[in-house]
Amino acid sequence: MQDIDIHQITEEAIAQMAGTPDARLKEIMEAAVRHLHAFAREVRLTPDEWLQGIAFLTAVGQMCSPIRQEFILLSDVLGLSRLVNVMHDAAGREAAGTETSLLGPFFREGAPEIAMGGSLARSPGGPELVLYGQVRDAQGQPIPHAVMDVWQTNAEGLYDLQAHAPDEMDMRGRLRCDAEGRYFLRTEKPIGYSIPMDGPVGALVRAQARHGFRPAHIHILITAPGHRDLVTALYLSDDPNVDSDTVFGVSKSLVVTPRRDLPDSPAPGAEAVRYDFTLSRARGEGSGRVGADPSTLVPSN
Ligand code: BEZ
Ligand code: FE
Repeated sequence: MQDIDIHQITEEAIAQMAGTPDARLKEIMEAAVRHLHAFAREVRLTPDEWLQGIAFLTAVGQMCSPIRQEFILLSDVLGLSRLVNVMHDAAGREAAGTETSLLGPFFREGAPEIAMGGSLARSPGGPELVLYGQVRDAQGQPIPHAVMDVWQTNAEGLYDLQAHAPDEMDMRGRLRCDAEGRYFLRTEKPIGYSIPMDGPVGALVRAQARHGFRPAHIHILITAPGHRDLVTALYLSDDPNVDSDTVFGVSKSLVVTPRRDLPDSPAPGAEAVRYDFTLSRARGEGSGRVGADPSTLVPSN
């Protein structure tokens, strides 16, 4: 034991953890302590501010429930989820592979099967949008019978969990591509929506004068044997927040502009997007469901 100054405390804390048997836990916790201490030194954190931080994290934990994961939302708005996503992509996505995006909290297993050309909307009402294209491997070969889960908000910006009783499914479906990897479905044009703003993360976002919106998007999960699951989303180019997504999910390659004049559209004259997806080979790294939020998060507004 020596007199501890603002640098020695970091060394002391790390030294006390030196015997951690799990090498990865040791690496992660040492780095966490080093960076946390450096952060406190950099901002000259006061005891009052430290207490405020503790109260904030306590509130984040207290907001969590089986249907709400406020810590993941915090990770999302800090850009940490996207960072982990990008690193995971860099490690396993083939160069030609479609970029991934956040899975988000609204994915549900067991979505209704839809036939080729069928609609995600249980009772279509909003402006129609057609999606079609092909699922291929990184060599450009079609992947036969890939399975696509597609889910999105309705034309009012609400997911089914927000608009209906919890056991009702709408604006989501599961489609099996044909033998040439082709898919074709109808949906409604989604609109942007606010992340849940009624908790401590929303309070933080407001305190930072951020808008709290995600641009209009359609989530897509594609699975095929021997390939890495692809979790991605298509973002509509005309959304005013397409360049300022609160959770940093947008990549340029995932931004699309619906058109009525696509020459090979299976629904001539309808607003349509053609998007061809490229799956990477599986390399034994698990599902590759990057950005997977394990819980459902139901905004209260
Ligand atoms: C979503 O895309 O549904 C979403 C993603 C992260 C936080 C909130 C919502
Ligand atoms: Fe979403």
